[in-house]
Amino acid sequence: MNENTIPKRYTITSALPYANGPLHIGHIAGAYLPADTYVRYLRLRGREVVYICGSDEHGAAITLRAKKEETSPQAIVDKYHNQIKEAFVQFGFTFDIYHRTSAPLHHETAQWFFRQLNDKGEFVVQTSEQYYDEEYDQFLADRYITGECPNCHNPNAYGDQCEKCGTALSPLELINPLSTLSGKAPILRETKHWYLPLDKYQPWLEEWLLEGKKGKWKKNVYGQCKSWLEAGLLPRSMTRDLDWGVPVPLEDAEGKVLYVWLDAPIGYISATKEWARQHGKDWEIYWKKQENPEDDSRLIHFVGKDNIVFHCIIFPSILHAEGSFILPDNVPANEFLNLEGDKLSTSRNWAVWLHEYLEDFPGKQDVLRYVLLSIGPESKDSEFTWKDFQERNNSELANILGNLVNRLKLLHKYYGGLVPVANGLADDAEAQLVLKQIKVHKDNIAENLENFRFRDALMEYMNIARLGNKYLTDEEPWKKWKTDPEHVGRTLYTATQVVAALGILGKIFLPDAAEKILDFFFLDSKSLSWDDLQKDELVSSGSPTKQPEMLFPKIEDDIIQQQLDKLEANKKAKEGVEVSESKVAPAKEAITFDDFMKLDLRNGVILEAATVPKADKLLQFKVDTGLDVRTIVSGVAEHFKPEDLLGKQVTLVANLAPRKIRGVVSQGMILFAEDADGKLHLVNPEYDVMKGSVVK
Ligand code: MF3
Ligand code: ZN
Repeated sequence: MNENTIPKRYTITSALPYANGPLHIGHIAGAYLPADTYVRYLRLRGREVVYICGSDEHGAAITLRAKKEETSPQAIVDKYHNQIKEAFVQFGFTFDIYHRTSAPLHHETAQWFFRQLNDKGEFVVQTSEQYYDEEYDQFLADRYITGECPNCHNPNAYGDQCEKCGTALSPLELINPLSTLSGKAPILRETKHWYLPLDKYQPWLEEWLLEGKKGKWKKNVYGQCKSWLEAGLLPRSMTRDLDWGVPVPLEDAEGKVLYVWLDAPIGYISATKEWARQHGKDWEIYWKKQENPEDDSRLIHFVGKDNIVFHCIIFPSILHAEGSFILPDNVPANEFLNLEGDKLSTSRNWAVWLHEYLEDFPGKQDVLRYVLLSIGPESKDSEFTWKDFQERNNSELANILGNLVNRLKLLHKYYGGLVPVANGLADDAEAQLVLKQIKVHKDNIAENLENFRFRDALMEYMNIARLGNKYLTDEEPWKKWKTDPEHVGRTLYTATQVVAALGILGKIFLPDAAEKILDFFFLDSKSLSWDDLQKDELVSSGSPTKQPEMLFPKIEDDIIQQQLDKLEANKKAKEGVEVSESKVAPAKEAITFDDFMKLDLRNGVILEAATVPKADKLLQFKVDTGLDVRTIVSGVAEHFKPEDLLGKQVTLVANLAPRKIRGVVSQGMILFAEDADGKLHLVNPEYDVMKGSVVK
């Protein structure tokens, strides 16, 4: 298919989000907003498109979450599928379908694929040893094993990766592996799996991708693929020993499911099938090679950086191995978005959540669209800050676009709200230039969008508003109104055409504002398309208009401060939870009241304190217990100097059997409390009490 010809139709996908948690702005800027913008553009141009998304409901991402929330995987996916779908709808994404991979149609489709490949003998079946938790009677997925990283010796590395040093690992490389289920050391057990021989497809991938996509795919995407291929591909297992997922459709595969990265991208196909079924369409024309290659759909996957290998190498290999499906024409993946100087992180709750944004900024979907598209991490990582968000709303959306639209109030001031007659328009050089410039910017928008340059496209869009503002400022209709009313008529007629063009083109970038702008001219957004922009006149003289409303109210400092405070608070709360989850020692076994009563706890005073020779960690004390003066040894030399404790009141266990510690007999135990940093503090009464007083 020639890159420059317009394809018969498009199959557009956005990565299926895991239904294991809400979405944040990083997700939106990566795989969803660019895709939705592109699709809006294609639709405005009248091209045939199907836009697919849905929830990815399998894999360890889901089962781990279920474990964490102490519920079933099904409950997790039901909860988050609905939450994510709701947020997408509210935000205004225009998927034709938002499907889910737990749907029976998806299971069937994924199993069909597996069987095709299996029947063709594509898989290599191999038995190997994998970690198994005997107590839980199950094989352990990579994420279910932790242990010491062989590279940096972080004790909490996962079976697939050490998050501290970033090294990719396999579970067998971990030192002292432990099962996260039972907390015990797993054993090795033999298991059989079906491998996709990526090594066998390597020559084909080199031709199709390295040669075929050179200069066509974005540099960041192509570069990542190139390094994968240069490192050499290895067979990858397409099955897992798990009880959550699409069951492997073979007799000798009891207890096995499809690898989530096999089943998930097939989700695009099953979603298309479901959409086609609902609308009486033929799904195959969107996915299968047609008799005449010119008739093939153009398949484009929008994904984030971490999904590149799956969409550029693994899924295409699967499609290629099956043989009758089209391959992705492009995978315009984005890099990562950061937030306020730090990586977005779900686990650290360092994120702006889509559902919270929708709550906190009702009716301001366009503002987030505008900001995220302006700062999109198209070729390198980029950064969202609330200050920048405010700035872009106030000085770009409000001051440039909103301001221009607002200036059409002049139609009401001078012409009773009607678009004026434009006498002498043909000979008005300034007006003609403006009308011509609209078309130039429009063509630039198209050129940029066809090449997935969303930032530049949006900039061109705003340039139309800048053009309109400059034109009005230069023409000064408010000054000429008395002296040259014909000129003013031409000027406001021309400004009206600029705003109407912004209304039509706004359907790509700012759908809510576009609707309002067009409604201002009593135009029906749905009936206007790209081709209308070719016309010289979008709104004719004498047409009525409404009073323009404020499109983008300013966002004040206190609103921004609230968001910043919220981020800090979320992070603190999370840190608090983590401290309590990770550092608090588990509860001890219950004791009876009688057991407790056996303890002789009382207050005393430290009379002497000294180090213990040849014992770095110990201090020895002479303590007046009220009963007697005795020696007590404590392992606290790392926390206190002897003089720190001299004369202090302490609480002690007075009836602990004497013990010899490093040659010194210790007759009791002084109590200390440990803080979050592991530092010790004395436990003593708030007020001075009598020596020997009992603690109860
Ligand atoms: N759920 C994956 C993620 O969030 C993306 C899956 S995309 C698909 O990273 F192709 F597999 F569907
Ligand atoms: Zn490491």
